Amino acid sequence: MANTAKTAIVTGASRGIGAGLVEAFLKRGYSVVANSRNITKANPFAAAANVALVDGDIGHPSTAATIVDTAVSRFGRIDVLINNAGVFIPKPFTEYTTEDFNTLVSTTLAGFLYVSQLAVKQMLRQKSGSIVNVSTTLVDQPIAGVGAAVQIMLKGALNAVTCALAIEYAKEGIRVNTIAPEVINTPILLCINRKLMTFSKGCTRSAGSVRSKKSSTQLCF
Ligand SMILES: NC(=O)c1ccc[n+]([C@@H]2O[C@H](COP(=O)([O-])OP(=O)(O)OC[C@H]3O[C@@H](n4cnc5c(N)ncnc54)[C@H](OP(=O)(O)O)[C@@H]3O)[C@@H](O)[C@H]2O)c1
Repeated sequence: MANTAKTAIVTGASRGIGAGLVEAFLKRGYSVVANSRNITKANPFAAAANVALVDGDIGHPSTAATIVDTAVSRFGRIDVLINNAGVFIPKPFTEYTTEDFNTLVSTTLAGFLYVSQLAVKQMLRQKSGSIVNVSTTLVDQPIAGVGAAVQIMLKGALNAVTCALAIEYAKEGIRVNTIAPEVINTPILLCINRKLMTFSKGCTRSAGSVRSKKSSTQLCF
């Protein structure tokens, strides 16, 4: 039965947008492989035969391989890949550290690259598939007071590769698109100074998961 359903992979699915996407796919009858570094611990979904949880950092090739292997071995195919995993590190441009940069590159770019390469190989076999990269409106419309230049630089790269892949694989029946959320009230918004961004009211994530409560340029992951 599971093998006849469409299959979606959602990265960064333990909370926020990713968890919402998983629920939406399940409601529509998809089988889903949901990933995040701590998704088993977060355990956000009711146990079901058509949900597979894969723990792991999406920036690591081995995590990507496990996700794709799980989708194919358990559900037989990959119809949709949502590259959603993300962290938000807003700070003035001159204050980005090498650690910040490496974290953002790993999650945003490596986290896109490895799993997408493997998913495309499977989609080529199927002659169909859809990849959606989750970017941000900040690429085209930065907000005064929310310095996030390095984050924006890397999400911009995601937009660029989306266009390249859409052209490269259109003839193979594989669609590649970007969606750019504006502001969605998820735990990631705790990274933004509440004084500057009143829209962060109502966030429910515990402050303990935010590294520094003192700085207006907090690092969240
Ligand atoms: N919310 C907004 O207003 C907004 C606006 C524009 C764009 N976006 C984008 O939307 C996406 C989702 O954001 P969100 O608001 O839902 O954030 P969120 O609530 O903080 O969720 C982020 C998810 O990514 C996972 N994650 C983080 N680093 C990871 C890694 N290295 N490997 C695997 N999973 C990882 C987290 O789980 P673990 O901690 O368990 O790994 C979590 O499930 C992000 O790409 C973000 O840039 C959000």
